[in-house]
Order: sequence, then structure tokens, then C-alpha cells
Amino acid sequence: MSGPVAQSCCTFLVPWITKNRIMVCLLLVNLVLIFLYFDVRQSSSLSSPNPGGKPEEINTDSSSHAPDSIINADFGDPVIFEPYWLEYGIDMAIPAWHSISYLSSHRQISPLIEDCLVDEIRSVHRLVGNAVTQNRHIIIGAGSSQLLQAAFYALSVNDQSPPLKVVSACPFYSAYPLMTDFVQSKLYEWAGDAMDFESTSTRDGYIEIVNYPNNPDGTIRHAVVNGSSGGLIHDLAYYWPQYTPITSPADHDIMLFSLSKFSGHAGSRAGWAIVKDLKVAQLMSKHIMFNTIGLSRDAQARAAHIMRYVVHQYSQKGSAPYRLKTGPDNTTLLFHHAYDTLEHRWKELRDLVVSGARFTLQDYPLAFCTFFGETTTTHPAFAWLKCEQDRDCEELLNSVNIRSRGAHLFGILDPQYTRISMILSLKEFTVLLSRLALLNNSSQTNCESMELTTKR
Ligand SMILES: Cc1ncc(COP(=O)(O)O)c(C=O)c1O
Ligand SMILES: *[C@@H]1O[C@H](CO)[C@@H](O)[C@H](O)[C@H]1NC(C)=O
Ligand SMILES: *[C@@H]1O[C@H](CO)[C@@H](O)[C@H](O)[C@H]1NC(C)=O
Ligand SMILES: *[C@@H]1O[C@H](CO)[C@@H](O)[C@H](O)[C@H]1NC(C)=O
Ligand SMILES: *[C@@H]1O[C@H](CO)[C@@H](O)[C@H](O)[C@H]1NC(C)=O
Repeated sequence: MSGPVAQSCCTFLVPWITKNRIMVCLLLVNLVLIFLYFDVRQSSSLSSPNPGGKPEEINTDSSSHAPDSIINADFGDPVIFEPYWLEYGIDMAIPAWHSISYLSSHRQISPLIEDCLVDEIRSVHRLVGNAVTQNRHIIIGAGSSQLLQAAFYALSVNDQSPPLKVVSACPFYSAYPLMTDFVQSKLYEWAGDAMDFESTSTRDGYIEIVNYPNNPDGTIRHAVVNGSSGGLIHDLAYYWPQYTPITSPADHDIMLFSLSKFSGHAGSRAGWAIVKDLKVAQLMSKHIMFNTIGLSRDAQARAAHIMRYVVHQYSQKGSAPYRLKTGPDNTTLLFHHAYDTLEHRWKELRDLVVSGARFTLQDYPLAFCTFFGETTTTHPAFAWLKCEQDRDCEELLNSVNIRSRGAHLFGILDPQYTRISMILSLKEFTVLLSRLALLNNSSQTNCESMELTTKR
């Protein structure tokens, strides 16, 4: 099991598979409270994450199926990946002497960035074919969240005008307005739906965030503001083959990626930006320098380890395309495993939804995925659920103790839409489906809901 891990610059990464140690680690980590990023309305949930332990096996208390237990499908915690890493991952240990310095030992790219991580990022994109990295600058941050802030700064700091308007087409990722206005910067401010953004004001400059496949609705998007003076940030957190067909290598000025949606390691908080312009890249690095003095080197090492492992697994299968149709030996491959899991979940959800009249889901086009060498479709990390008979979809789901994220947080006034996570644990997903099935069968037609549903 030591194969791919011990080479290259991170030679300290040693396999760590002793059962006892895992159990000790489990006990320690269980003491730690988990605070989930940007989860505005946290609630107790079935999945009580068990970092360092064996999540799907340990979490088996039967009371969790009680009808009053809360299913938290509100936020996008990617624990769907846990079983894969539990089954196929190689553990790593970082020796106490390692990463003591602020600076990485190689220091060729940036004193704060592990060279090996940048190499691994390039080889992951080469493997998947989802982004151009040649002659591009790579910046590491604490999740793509920190890099988004760094990009806002870089695009606005030399602008003399009043705060630059930041826009994104509705429905947009609910954290964008929060992250934009949180620091009450004099440089930039949230201005809402990019579709409504007046082209007359584009001369003053603006920032448009383009997210594809889009959170929450899974659509493939392009910039919509018609202006020449705008800065574009492409948030490609979900542009991986498990979620959507990879049609060509993305090539935009600023592209953001995240370990959390690539491999599920949200807790490592590793994200990266691929940036064309050197000045923009330098300003982004400066922001990260003053903000956190770089991402934890431990997290960088872990990210590099995960990426090297994934690339190694695929390189043993030759070169792309890596065909689907899971045989016994390709469930060991990250993207194949994640694709199958998501496809299966989406099929179950769609079967349920089409069997009744209460809900509808977005349809997604087929496209040729260059990575799999087959025609695939989008299986987003979230379902953008529409209630066809009820006035308020989030409220309806609350009535069966499912927490979802209502449309208003994505800039949509129509409460018939709500977002549910498809990347929660299997156990929670199973309960989620059974509760939706209950609703599916009972249609509610009071006067209030009839009146409001015909409005749109
Ligand atoms: C569209 C989008 N961008 C960015 C992020 C943040 O990712 P990270 O964990 O890298 O900060 C998320 C997380 O849910 C997301 O959905
Ligand atoms: C953008 O605006 C210009 C000038 O008003 C117009 O000629 C052009 O057709 C517009 N393009 C799009 C894509 O709307
Ligand atoms: C996955 O398994 C199928 C069926 O056994 C096979 O045709 C395909 O080539 C495999 N893909 C990879 C990447 O190994
Ligand atoms: C949903 O409701 C329809 C009738 O309204 C029923 O035929 C179907 O079996 C239900 N589906 C599920 C999964 O419960
Ligand atoms: C679903 O609806 C049918 C007919 O309306 C009813 O006979 C059946 O008992 C219902 N099932 C559930 C689980 O509510």
C-alpha cells in the first residue's frame, strides 16, 4: 500500500494503517466540536461526522431513524466521499518535525506554497482535462472561499471609483453576497443578479462571478454582463467528471477550484486559483499573505497526497479516456466511484419525483465527457427542487424534518424552489428519500397554495 505516496518532494508522507492508531485518533477527534462553514442554520443531524473514525460503520444507532430526527440537507458537506476514502484511501502521517517553518523548503513558486502541491494540481488537471494550467499562475488558499476574497481584492484594489459592484446571475451560490459584504470593504460591494445589472454602468467596472455547473441549479453558465471593463471570476468548484461532463479544458482569467468538491476533503480547507495575469496573481498572493500568511502546510501536504494518489490510480489504467461501466476493479477509482454514487442517487431521486406530481427537478443536457470518453449528463451536488403544489418548498420539507436551503438565499423570490444536498451521507440520503416519498403521496390543495402557485 505504500506505492504512490512515498516519492517526489513529500517523502515524509508514510502510510499509516495501524488499526490501533486509527481508534486512538477517533477518540481524540470525537472530542472536537465541528463548526461548519457558512452553515447559517445548523441543526442536529443524523450524520454527526466522525473524523478519523469509520463513519458509515460507527454511526449505527437506530434512534437516528426516528421520525423527529433532523435531516440536514441544507449545506453542502461532501461526506458522500467518506466511504470511498475509508475503503480505498491510503492514510498519511506528518512527522512532528515537519512543516515547522512558515516557508516551504523549495520556495521556487512562493515561499508559502509547497512546490509539490502545485505540481500535483497541474497533474490532476492534466489527467482530467478540465482546466488549462500551462503558463498559468497557481495560488493556494484556505478553500476557494479565501481565494474568492483574494480575487475581489486583486480586481478592485487599483480601481479609483466607488466600490466595484460584484454580481452573479440568479440563482447564485448563497455565500457570494455574504462573502462579498462581510468585510464591508470600500473596494467592492454586492450588487445582486448579474441579469439585472445595467449595461450603462459597466463602463465603471464590475466583477461577475460565473459558477458552472452552477450551485444551486446545476446549469452550465457563461458570463452574462455585456461589458468590457469587468473582471470575471469563474468558480469551477464542481467542474469535475463526477458532477458534469468535462467538455473541454476551461480557460478563463481567474478560475477557482476546491479540494472539498474534487475529493471531498472539505475539512482540509485547500483551494486553488488558476490565474492568467501575473499582476492579478501577485495581488491575490498578497491578500492571502496579509490574511492568513498562507494555507497551513499540513493541509497543503494532505492535499498533495490526495492528488498524487488519485493521479497514480488512474495512471495505472493507462491514459484518458477512462471508460465508465463499473467493473469490480474500477470502483477503486475516485471519479468512477463518485460518478456511480451520484448517478445512483440522482436516479433514485428522479424516480421518486416523476412518480408523483408534487415535485419537479431541473433536466440536464447530455454531453460528451472527454474524461470518460462517453456521453454523460450532469449530476449536481445539489438538487434544485421545485414544489408544484405548495407555496413554500423549504417549509414543506421542514414539515417532515428535512432542512433545505430556500430559494431566497440564492436571490430567487419564488419560495417554490429549495436546494437539497445530494452529497450527504448514505444514511441521511436514504432517510431523506423516504421522507420525500411520504410527501409525494399526499397532495395539499388549500386555497392559499392554489392561488400562489398559479402566479408563475
Ligand atoms: C460554488 C461554490 N464555490 C465555493 C465553495 C466553497 O468551497 P471551499 O470549501 O473550497 O471554500 C462552495 C462550497 O460549497 C461552492 O458550492
Ligand atoms: C453588447 O452591447 C453592445 C453595445 O450596446 C451590442 O452591440 C451587443 O450586441 C451586446 N452584446 C450582447 C451579447 O448583448
Ligand atoms: C471499468 O470497467 C469496465 C467494465 O469492466 C471497463 O470496460 C472499463 O474499461 C473500466 N474502466 C477503467 C477506467 O478501468
Ligand atoms: C408518488 O405518488 C404516486 C401517486 O401520487 C404513487 O403512484 C407513487 O408510487 C409515489 N411514489 C413513491 C416513491 O412513493
Ligand atoms: C398513498 O395514496 C394512496 C391513494 O391516494 C393511498 O391508498 C395510500 O395509502 C397512500 N400511501 C401512503 C404511504 O400515504
